[in-house]
Order: sequence, then structure tokens, then C-alpha cells
Amino acid sequence: MGYDTDKIANGLMENYKTLFSPLQHKKISILEIGILEGGSLLYWDNYFQHLETVIVGLDLSLPSVEFSDRVKVFKCDQNDNKGLRTIAGEYGPFDIIIDDGSHFRKETENCFRELFAEVAIGGYYIIEDWAAGYWRDRPMYAGMVELINEIIARIPELSISESRVILEKNKALAFFRKGETGWQE
Ligand SMILES: C[S@@+](CC[C@H](N)C(=O)[O-])C[C@H]1O[C@@H](n2cnc3c(N)ncnc32)[C@H](O)[C@@H]1O
Repeated sequence: MGYDTDKIANGLMENYKTLFSPLQHKKISILEIGILEGGSLLYWDNYFQHLETVIVGLDLSLPSVEFSDRVKVFKCDQNDNKGLRTIAGEYGPFDIIIDDGSHFRKETENCFRELFAEVAIGGYYIIEDWAAGYWRDRPMYAGMVELINEIIARIPELSISESRVILEKNKALAFFRKGETGWQE
């Protein structure tokens, strides 16, 4: 089956499969910000095997796709903290959060600030396509590279146990794994 998501063409799925394989058969909760045509949610629904795994998506508008019962989709703006908290309250803590939404700094920062606390210990917060911030001709993405650097600078206080930043042509991924405690009080 083909999936309508650019995560396949840009090679991100290969990284995700390596990262997520220990979770493939476990009961997990995953939240993806940015649904578009629903291709990635359908992919996750096929990839993660546990019957009680929940796959949550949010976007400004929803596609007319029939998802399985394991997939829950919500109309929610990345700036809507009340909406984000309601979704997290119902389906968090999340083992995986992927921000593949606007890729604008304000929205990306807001979701990280609001939702990193909703990641389970050992879980991942992932920001995709942050390298859009390098595109000088598209100022709407300005600040994304700086945001990733700012999060990295705060790793000890944010209780991040592990981080990886992948940057190749047409491929940018930053993941932050939640640790038990910060490295400094
Ligand atoms: C790159 S697409 C998502 C692709 C999808 N994750 C996939 O892999 O197939 C980005 C999505 O973010 C959504 N988006 C943009 N700004 C948003 C906002 N402020 N709040 C919620 N979603 C937003 C867009 O509507 C769009 O569907």
C-alpha cells in the first residue's frame, strides 16, 4: 500500500523505523501535529502493531479519510493551548510526539513548551523539517534553526536524556528523548 506522506520520499521513515522498532509491538500513544492527507497516520496505524496503541493527529482541518478506531483526529491549532491540553489530557502521556505542522517558529515553540511535559519518560519529542529556517527567501520559517539550538542549549534543565539532530539535503529531523530528571537542579 502506498502512503501519501513525504516522510517516505525524503527518507525520514528509514530513520523512524530504526528509532521506533523497539516500540512496534508495545502499547504506545503517539501524537502527530500536522495530518494533511492522513498518510503518516495511516502509516503509523499499519506500522505499530499493538491493538491498544493509540495514534492521535491534530491539524487546522481534517482530511476526508476513514481511519481505524485506533486513530483519533482533532481539529486544533498549534497555538491553541487549551485544545492541546485537552488532547494531551485524554491521550497523554505520549511515547512519541512528532511536530510536522506549520514549521513556523512560533507554533513549533508553543507546542514544544506546552507538550514536552506530556512526553512519557523514555519517549521522544521530534521536530521535523526545522531546516526550513535556512531558507532566506522564505522568512516565515525564520527562527527554526535557532529554536533547535535553544532547545539543545537547555537539554540539562529540560530532562532530555538523549538528542539527535539529522541534517541532510531535503531531510531534517531533531529528536529529544525524555529522561528521568534534569542533569542539574
Ligand atoms: C507537512 S503537512 C503534514 C504532513 C503529514 N504529517 C504527513 O506526513 O503526511 C503540515 C500540516 O500542518 C498543518 N498546519 C499548519 N499550521 C498549523 C497550525 N497552526 N495548527 C495545526 N496544524 C497546522 C497544515 O494544515 C498541514 O496539513
